[in-house]
Amino acid sequence: MNATITATAKYLPARILSNFDLEKMVDTTDEWIRTRTGIETRRLVSEGQASADMATEVAKILLERSNTDKNEIDLIIIATITPDTLLPSTAARVQHNLDAQNCWGFDLSGACTGFLYALETGARFVESGDYKKVIVIGVDTMSSIIDYTDRNTCVLFGDGAGGVLLEPTESENGVIDSLLRIDGAGGDSLIMPGGGSLHPASADTVKKKMHYVRQDGKKVFKFAVKGMADISSDILKKNNFTGDDVKLFIPHQANKRIIDAAAKRCRIPNDRVLINIEKYGNTTAATIPICMDEAVTDGIIKDGDLILTASFGAGFTWGSMLIRWGK
Ligand code: ACO
Repeated sequence: MNATITATAKYLPARILSNFDLEKMVDTTDEWIRTRTGIETRRLVSEGQASADMATEVAKILLERSNTDKNEIDLIIIATITPDTLLPSTAARVQHNLDAQNCWGFDLSGACTGFLYALETGARFVESGDYKKVIVIGVDTMSSIIDYTDRNTCVLFGDGAGGVLLEPTESENGVIDSLLRIDGAGGDSLIMPGGGSLHPASADTVKKKMHYVRQDGKKVFKFAVKGMADISSDILKKNNFTGDDVKLFIPHQANKRIIDAAAKRCRIPNDRVLINIEKYGNTTAATIPICMDEAVTDGIIKDGDLILTASFGAGFTWGSMLIRWGK
């Protein structure tokens, strides 16, 4: 029994923050941001809107597109590092918003690799034979943990959500293989130090801006290029494929230069690499499912296509996955 993606969906909030807007907020330029990252605009939630709202929109579209009743959902997995609240989970909020009566669910924290961790987890539940309809969503409200006076981080991120419905199939399609990794030695290079059990929220942690993301951008860049390139070529080799076999490479959208380096290493030509970072920036757990949905709605992915997807993020976490598209 394989697990396959039978529907995709995305949600991007309406508010647009452009590089020119950022020029008025911090010491940066449109030219610097575009040439160093490939980003031109990103979307931000409106007042009062948070991760569960965006994830609920995605879940509703998934149900509609797959003609699925809310009570048929078995499991909701939400990959996020920006839950509305630490408890209850974002999955509980989405279940409640949908009024789905026969499921359970949980949040999963894997940062930028969160969606691949969640997709692998969901696929295993489906392959067990006990789960027929599993919703997997990557969502992040990065604007809630970004310091908009820090040019090293604020230009990179945006808010958004994307997701898929996983169902069993008797065909050869679906998730073929995954390689997932974690190495906490990189932890301090990309971290939000405050607000957890180590440094619970206090006036002092807020004063020290510990509830914002901090990073050593150069170090993350170096590890991301190597991590994404290595794991992408490793999974191809493991499954006796080459870059020529890949119809579409869907990489995590952190920096266009990281994507270009990973694609080059796997010998995948540019016209088979999906890039939308210019529109949305880095939406963390949401980048890959947003790309998947755009590829489906734009008619770029066809049944039978071999899809390679890969990511790298805080932790460090990284991974790759091979998917044969179709029911
Ligand atoms: N505008 C102008 N100058 C800036 C900006 C900015 N927004 N941000 C940093 N700089 C400055 C720095 O202060 C530094 O100045 P200094 O040399 O005087 O100290 C200089 O630019 C850094 O320049 P470079 O080192 O040439 O910049 P680089 O090419 O490394 O690009 C970047 C920086 C974009 C942060 C890159 O390292 C990167 O993308 N790293 C990965 C970070 C990332 O993606 N994190 C997200 C989560 S992890 C993931 O998703 C993979």
